[in-house]
Amino acid sequence: MDLTGRRILLGVSGGIAAYKSAELARLFVKAGADVRVMMTRAAQEFVGAATFAALSGNLVATELFDAQQEAQIGHIEMADNAQVIVLAPATANLLARLAHGLADDLVTTVYLAFTGPVVIAPAMNKNMWGHAATQHNVETLRARGHVLVGPGDGEMACGHVGVGRMSEPAQIFEATCAALGVAGELPGELTGRRVLVTAGSTREAIDPVRFIGNRSSGKMGYAIAAEAAARGAEVLLVSGPTALASPAGVTRIDVESASEMAEAVDAHIADRDAAIFAAAVADFTPTARADLKIKKGADGQGMTLELGRTRDILAGVTARADRPRCVVGFAAETGGDLADKARDKRRRKGCDLLVANDVSEAGSGFAGDTNRVLIVGPDDTIDQLPLLTKPQVAARILDRITTFLKPEA
Ligand code: CTP
Repeated sequence: MDLTGRRILLGVSGGIAAYKSAELARLFVKAGADVRVMMTRAAQEFVGAATFAALSGNLVATELFDAQQEAQIGHIEMADNAQVIVLAPATANLLARLAHGLADDLVTTVYLAFTGPVVIAPAMNKNMWGHAATQHNVETLRARGHVLVGPGDGEMACGHVGVGRMSEPAQIFEATCAALGVAGELPGELTGRRVLVTAGSTREAIDPVRFIGNRSSGKMGYAIAAEAAARGAEVLLVSGPTALASPAGVTRIDVESASEMAEAVDAHIADRDAAIFAAAVADFTPTARADLKIKKGADGQGMTLELGRTRDILAGVTARADRPRCVVGFAAETGGDLADKARDKRRRKGCDLLVANDVSEAGSGFAGDTNRVLIVGPDDTIDQLPLLTKPQVAARILDRITTFLKPEA
């Protein structure tokens, strides 16, 4: 993995695993990265700053208010200069301070001033890791879009056996590469490729407070965007309303209605190598949106809502002369005959690949974490995948796209 020119800020907090971070720093340096290290006071009880200074070839920052250090490497400058922050090991105390946004030492202050991807490798006793407070903090950090690596399972320094060991330096190294958009296992596969992904549901306004929506969570589309970015692609995610955090290295445009999604796609589809339409777009929208909240009135009558068709974004893209080389559609069906429906839909929509699932089947619903899909290829062949997690499905879809985009041998 080549990290030449990459600027990594490694934050070390006070755990026995701090010695493993010396190996992590060495891996980063070996890959060509410019590594700066910052340490909490407790970390220095475990490993001396001199070790990290020698490994990184740079001054190690330890104090927020050190006149000499501030003159040489101010904490805001440290945050501005870094492309990724890696916190390893991250103790329970550090996780809590990050989750709550405290800025009571150098590491937490730099973290707050930083706007890029953050990779966190927790390490602690298994009971501390399992505590509801820690788990709550971890959820908060995940929801913020940070990458959590580990902790692993096994024997710990405290004699306990269980979950809490810091992940191995090689794993943290790989997660950092992915966060930087440097492809992991399959180096450079999609480097230089421009990919657009639609995800989530759309909302069609009836009046200022009501809308027609659907049950899509956006998880599948976000997993695809994350996987494409991890393989080195430049990814634009056009997203309907969801509660999900942006995946690392992905540019996101938020939209609400089907027509806003269509406009965003129109504006950004040119010069894309691949486009994946994972959004559940409304097919119908109210023909008129009331400017004021519709009152139910005193007559006890129901109401009739008139709906018109929305534009089919996917079909519009496949009809363009300058369409992306690989266009992928999705089909959420119910009620059997999935393969036939999927083949038919791929042809109608004019896409190269169509990913279909039966949303009435157990494990394949909208909001879940798993999916059982089949992929229809350009020659109508069907690849039936087993029940997989959404990130695993995303990887399989990206495998197909990657093959599709390979230059002819
Ligand atoms: N899609 C789109 N724009 C729309 C509607 C759908 O881009 N206005 C895309 C979806 O993102 C998905 C695919 O088209 O990739 C399938 O959508 P679906 O609504 O299931 O297709 P339809 O042909 O409308 O399905 P049906 O015939 O079942 O109504």
